[in-house]
Amino acid sequence: AHQWRGVITEYADRLPMLAGAPTVTLREGGTPLIPAEHLSELVGAQVHVKYEGLNPTGSFKDRGMTTAMSMAAAKGAKAVICASTGNTSASAAAYATKAGMTCAVLVPEGKIAMGKLSQAIAHGATLLQVDGNFDHCLDVARKLAESYPVELVNSVNPARIEGQKTASFEIVDALGDAPDIHCLPVGNAGNITAYWRGYREYASETEGVSGALAPVSTRTPQMWGFQAAGSAPIVLGHPVDEPDTIATAIRIGNPASWQQAEAARDESGGRIEAVTDEEILRAHRILSSREGIFVEPASAASVAGLLKASAAGQVPAGATIVCTVTGHGLKDPQWALKNADGSDVAPVSVPAEAYAVARELGLQD
Ligand code: F0G
Repeated sequence: AHQWRGVITEYADRLPMLAGAPTVTLREGGTPLIPAEHLSELVGAQVHVKYEGLNPTGSFKDRGMTTAMSMAAAKGAKAVICASTGNTSASAAAYATKAGMTCAVLVPEGKIAMGKLSQAIAHGATLLQVDGNFDHCLDVARKLAESYPVELVNSVNPARIEGQKTASFEIVDALGDAPDIHCLPVGNAGNITAYWRGYREYASETEGVSGALAPVSTRTPQMWGFQAAGSAPIVLGHPVDEPDTIATAIRIGNPASWQQAEAARDESGGRIEAVTDEEILRAHRILSSREGIFVEPASAASVAGLLKASAAGQVPAGATIVCTVTGHGLKDPQWALKNADGSDVAPVSVPAEAYAVARELGLQD
């Protein structure tokens, strides 16, 4: 019987760094690329959604965690540490468990979604809430990894970017060539860096484990990255001391891969822009109620950015566009329970009687 074997095995020839390392995997990757008919109609293009919430721990982080944890295992590491707005901690905790290592995570107190917090705890991580934001957490985690025998598994770890680039491979493999435009949310900027690397490697001859690999795609897409307006350092051109947004996953004021994100933007002829929380929630609702795809708010920033560009007349007619949605809606479900006007959704109660249910459904007067 066949099943997807995880990104390291599926793309071994494109991950020379991993050659000879033990493989720590939960069979991540192989996520669906879903044609989005309603969005396509809205923007006048062919829009596909790469649903990364369907990874083992519910976010794209698993692609980079399998590689980071495998490299850590190859070094004989016993402990890993990370700073996180939530998803990295959930992923690190799960993969550390799989690898038989201990895991410590630093998160900004009160600013991570409950689903993510519970994952880190369920997988047995030591979870420390820091009186500060993500940027402070990453600072501390880097210092610890320099001074103590713990491996840092944030995206500043080169193995993380290597693993995450496989999402681009999957998209090209599914579409037959690279899209014209790729939209994604930007926080610490590791993912846009990884996607751009993946697209470039697939478009040119690269040295793999077993020699030169032929190009798979004829071109690379424009990279369109979107930050939350209250946490948009790359858009503003300076760090943000007190980043703010309901999209807690991308509440980051000083991204570690800032320069690489700018390079991805400039080399691809793309853009990095801001979307407001309101625009993010609108896109979140369109994804769930019109496309059947439930995501966490940060993930909807890619779609929010596409809709904003479309409203400004900046989406080329008929273009092939991929939007990555980075994390599952169950991570942070509270946003589904609000109406568009901000009021709470109130489920209707009925007696256990068919006639009462029929009346409520308008099937009966
Ligand atoms: N979307 C989600 C759901 C995320 O969790 C993150 C980052 C991003 C987008 C942005 O990706 O940082 O590579 O630009 N989350 C990190 C974390 C920071 O700690 O889980 P990026």
